[in-house]
Amino acid sequence: MNQIKNNIKTEFEKAFTNAEHHYQSKRYSEALQICEKILNEQKDHAPTIHLLACIYYSLNTKESLTIAKELFKKVTTLCSENAIYHNNSGLTSYVLKNFDEAISSFRKAILIKNDYADAYHNLGNTYLSLGLYNKAIENQKLAIKFNQDFLNAYLALTAAIMPGNNYMEMLKSFHNYIKPRGYLEIGVQTGKSLCIAQKPTQSIGIDPDPVIEYEFKTSTKIFSITSDSFFENYNLKSELNHAPLDMAFIDGLHLFDQSLRDFINIERNSHHDTIVLVHDCIPIDAVSSSRSRTTAFWSGDVWKLIPCLKEYRPDLKIFTILTKPTGLALIKNLDSTSTVLDKQFDLIVEQYINFSYSNIEKEWRKILNTIPNDWLYIQNLLKE
Ligand SMILES: C[S@@+](CC[C@H](N)C(=O)[O-])C[C@H]1O[C@@H](n2cnc3c(N)ncnc32)[C@H](O)[C@@H]1O
Repeated sequence: MNQIKNNIKTEFEKAFTNAEHHYQSKRYSEALQICEKILNEQKDHAPTIHLLACIYYSLNTKESLTIAKELFKKVTTLCSENAIYHNNSGLTSYVLKNFDEAISSFRKAILIKNDYADAYHNLGNTYLSLGLYNKAIENQKLAIKFNQDFLNAYLALTAAIMPGNNYMEMLKSFHNYIKPRGYLEIGVQTGKSLCIAQKPTQSIGIDPDPVIEYEFKTSTKIFSITSDSFFENYNLKSELNHAPLDMAFIDGLHLFDQSLRDFINIERNSHHDTIVLVHDCIPIDAVSSSRSRTTAFWSGDVWKLIPCLKEYRPDLKIFTILTKPTGLALIKNLDSTSTVLDKQFDLIVEQYINFSYSNIEKEWRKILNTIPNDWLYIQNLLKE
């Protein structure tokens, strides 16, 4: 008798595992059929009700989401202490834009499991959708606290700190407005940002390891070497066919000393109205803004360039645009004859290399001269 019972249980478990398998492989109709068979035999089998709810959620139509919502309601009533069920129920409410219900479900999940990173992340996303930025920030930080390499939580955190367009959109606005005769980009990667340049701009891209996936729209030379090697071995002006360097974008090696050297080399080739943009100047937290990379989301310590230039080059005009994911610095009023940075390079690096996020954490907006992510505001600054 016992043997028969075990066999039945095994068949039942096999069917459930099979349904889960189909679900994970996105074979939803097969998964659905098995779940319904299981529920015909055992109508309150919570894992199957939950799986069925997940299937309807994944089908992502208005009707299927409504069914998913009812199934989640049923399973969270049957198993009110299951944090995953509450979290997934919250996700369905979120997609249906029932934000109050979503908040309530995520909070229940967190009450049950107070280190539940996904639930904090989902709660943060819901607050972001409601425009409640501080609450969104608070919850994404908790998500990261409990899952230190949580890329989506980092990205959502940056969206809450810096709402609006991302740096790529901002870069487009700069190109459209400045229409640079000569443009230099350090750190090209796929060419996604370099391909923004339009005719008749003369473009140069430098990257030791480019993997170009985009089509350039204007005359573009790629140098597959490091920026240091480029400036040692080539003459930027002649490579630009003597088009004046009106704009440069530093987005190469994400280390302070390298970005300082890139800035010095660019300034040497600049004219008074050259605009320099520097990516990654807003540190999000200590881990992701340190010199060594331990997380998928990483800005490095490029941000130190801002307090450093403010200290050593008060003649420059420096702003950091609050554009996600990691800010974009805007530097103007360049002086190609200045030797201040070059002459004191070693001393400056020694001074700033151990400067850390904790030195600016409380007053980062002031220290980084942050400005709004608002093109009209920035355009006025460019006219000054
Ligand atoms: C973040 S990616 C650039 C992304 C690109 N600007 C964009 O927005 O699409 C950084 C790139 O810098 C390059 N890089 C690393 N060290 C460099 C160096 N010393 N000089 C120039 N580029 C460097 C890397 O190979 C990488 O492709």
